[in-house]
Amino acid sequence: MYRDVSACNTYNYGDALYWDARYIQEGGSFDWYQRYSALRPFVRKYIPTSSRVLMVGCGNAVMSEDMVKDGYEDIMNIDISSVAIDMMRRKYEHIPQLKYLQMDVKDMSFFPDESFDAVVDKGTLDSLMCGASAPISAAQMLGEVSRLLKPGGIYMLITYGDPTVRIPHLSRPVYNWKTELYIIPRPGFQRPAGSTSAKSYLEPVPTTEKGLLAAEFVMEDPDSHYIYVCGKMDETTDLIHVPSYPLTADVL
Ligand SMILES: C[S@@+](CC[C@H](N)C(=O)[O-])C[C@H]1O[C@@H](n2cnc3c(N)ncnc32)[C@H](O)[C@@H]1O
Repeated sequence: MYRDVSACNTYNYGDALYWDARYIQEGGSFDWYQRYSALRPFVRKYIPTSSRVLMVGCGNAVMSEDMVKDGYEDIMNIDISSVAIDMMRRKYEHIPQLKYLQMDVKDMSFFPDESFDAVVDKGTLDSLMCGASAPISAAQMLGEVSRLLKPGGIYMLITYGDPTVRIPHLSRPVYNWKTELYIIPRPGFQRPAGSTSAKSYLEPVPTTEKGLLAAEFVMEDPDSHYIYVCGKMDETTDLIHVPSYPLTADVL
């Protein structure tokens, strides 16, 4: 159920051994899907720079470094791959705002409840969705994310998964998340010559009551990425935007 197998290839992205082998082989750095420059408008809109941020499944991406350069003060990075964590810890030992811990996102009991203002996930839920027992793994991971968020906190999921395969996981009543959706084209996408579309990627996409795309919604780039911004609600909170941060389209 809800396992988007069509998007998973023969690699076992849910397996720590797969990732260790890959990071040993490749070294260097690599950002899946999108770089921070493209995501910055969304990150800055919802996550104040003073936030305590948890980056789940950080891999060897430059995203957290770029966030620190942009003013973020406290980013805890976790990954199941000890190879990635050792590499990143060495690389960033001179940057006190970045911390690295080897940890399974399905069991983050090391951290007390409500430890973080924001959790950022670029491609990690996607990896679990390609592994064994995908729906159970997703529920374990998202249960932990929910536990670790402070009331009013934000889970920002950057994924290839469209609402039909992600909303069933994100909309469990126990989390009480209010979700806004953005859709951005893959890097390098060009609108077809003659396109007159005036669509701004910086506007949330209207969704149905069930959180799905409306039937008339037209996707310009079929390989777009989805950004789900899930706010942890309680009776005193609403999905909060950083008040003074202007959204500009220059990076998209
Ligand atoms: C698709 S990569 C994304 C890496 C990075 N976030 C980026 O944007 O480039 C998925 C990452 O999730 C990590 N991962 C997979 N399963 C995990 C788990 N159960 N707990 C923590 N990290 C996991 C992998 O080691 C890998 O680094």
